Amino acid sequence: MDIACKNSLFTSLCEQVKENNRIDPERYNNQDIKRGLRNADGTGVVAGLTRICNVHGYVMSEGEKLPVKGELTYRGYSIEDLVRGSHGQGRFGFEEVVFLLLFGSLPTPEQLSDFCELLSANRELPEYFAEDMILKAPSPDIMNKMARSVLAMYSYDDHPEPENVENVLRQCIQLIAMLPAALGYAYQVKRRHYNKESMYFHQTVPGLSTSETILRTIRADAQYTEDEARLLDLCLMLHAEHGGGNNSAFAARVLSSSGTDTYSAIAAAIGSLKGPRHGGANLKVTQMLHDLKANIRDISDDEEIAAYLGKMLRREAGDGSGLIYGMGHAVYTLSDPRAVLLKQEAARMAEKNGYGDEFRLLDAVERLAPDVMLKVRGISRAVCANVDMYSGLVYRSLGISEDLFTPLFAVARISGWCAHRMEEYLTGNRIIRPAYKPFSKDKPYIELKNR
Ligand code: COA
Repeated sequence: MDIACKNSLFTSLCEQVKENNRIDPERYNNQDIKRGLRNADGTGVVAGLTRICNVHGYVMSEGEKLPVKGELTYRGYSIEDLVRGSHGQGRFGFEEVVFLLLFGSLPTPEQLSDFCELLSANRELPEYFAEDMILKAPSPDIMNKMARSVLAMYSYDDHPEPENVENVLRQCIQLIAMLPAALGYAYQVKRRHYNKESMYFHQTVPGLSTSETILRTIRADAQYTEDEARLLDLCLMLHAEHGGGNNSAFAARVLSSSGTDTYSAIAAAIGSLKGPRHGGANLKVTQMLHDLKANIRDISDDEEIAAYLGKMLRREAGDGSGLIYGMGHAVYTLSDPRAVLLKQEAARMAEKNGYGDEFRLLDAVERLAPDVMLKVRGISRAVCANVDMYSGLVYRSLGISEDLFTPLFAVARISGWCAHRMEEYLTGNRIIRPAYKPFSKDKPYIELKNR
């Protein structure tokens, strides 16, 4: 794939691309253009209505954004209640959340058991799919392989186009059920092809929850404890959905609004989630943690940590982006409820599995970062730890490879994408088509010989 891109023609074309595609950010401000579909105060431009989820992080009072404790509700039920309601009764909760997001109400015991059976019956990929579509063409990136797998499933479906609600719903349920298998095969073939490690494929066991299925798929010995499966289930519940405006759900809605097929819409959402500004941030937190461990001599010394965070903000340390990963959120201000729930579990698991120092470092970053951001960058707005601060540490405590951090997010979030696809299919009825304001000057055409 290394095409002749190193010659002088290519270098000069690159310069031309840079020159003719840069737009001064000031132009956005001067013309009141909503960069990133955001208002000047950072709130999102309202692009639609949804009954699926509410992400609440501030209240507006006399035109001012006032910080409040973060709340996340799926179909009106708070995430804390959903976790307490299922885990408190000794049940896995992810399947209940998927049912709630797709169908709009909490399942009865019978509905829940039927739905779990339905998912279980659809866990396997189509015959020869893994051999032909995954094993023969490994990818160094599991998200890339998952997106390609979803897109390839179109040709294994006798009715791939969105013919009616029943057909779209069937495709959604099958994709939700099968994505863990696509993750498993993509991961194993990546291990073998790129890491030069062994691959192992275990039989799918009917009746297991999504988190148990995943742990079986990715572990060499296919073994896991109830506690581990419950913790992964919590992660799946917390990552299942986050409103219509989040980048991947919006991508699914944009594609759905054009009338395209389910496979195209979900593959696009996976592509969006792969980005480091979206689902890829949990990996960035892990890389930040490695860097902090390598550079902080005394992790109990708040002053030393704060000084290092200051250097990160000044782009003198870290990955040079000027960001403290795991901090800040587009909506949440005082707290991200997902981070609050995960932090408790991260603390418990980290002590148990020898990651105590890592946990204490992240806790220090959470405590110290807002003050350092104020002093170094003048950021006075409320900044809290977000879900990515502790999710990576939880995965590491479960012995899960960094390769799988974002793919696990996708296995959970596909339920939200499918709910948004159904809502867009049933109610949108208009192609999403915002406008870009052109500002290039009209020019007379110049004949080739005169240029
Ligand atoms: N580290 C450093 N600076 C940060 C920051 C962070 N974690 N979070 C916000 N800021 C800065 C922004 O760069 C921006 O500065 P600028 O005006 O000089 O450009 C300013 O604070 C205002 O930020 P805000 O309006 O909150 O940003 P946002 O809503 O566009 O971004 C995030 C939200 C999540 C993208 C942002 O907080 C971020 O990049 N965090 C780190 C990455 C991360 O953890 N992502 C996971 C999200 S779940």
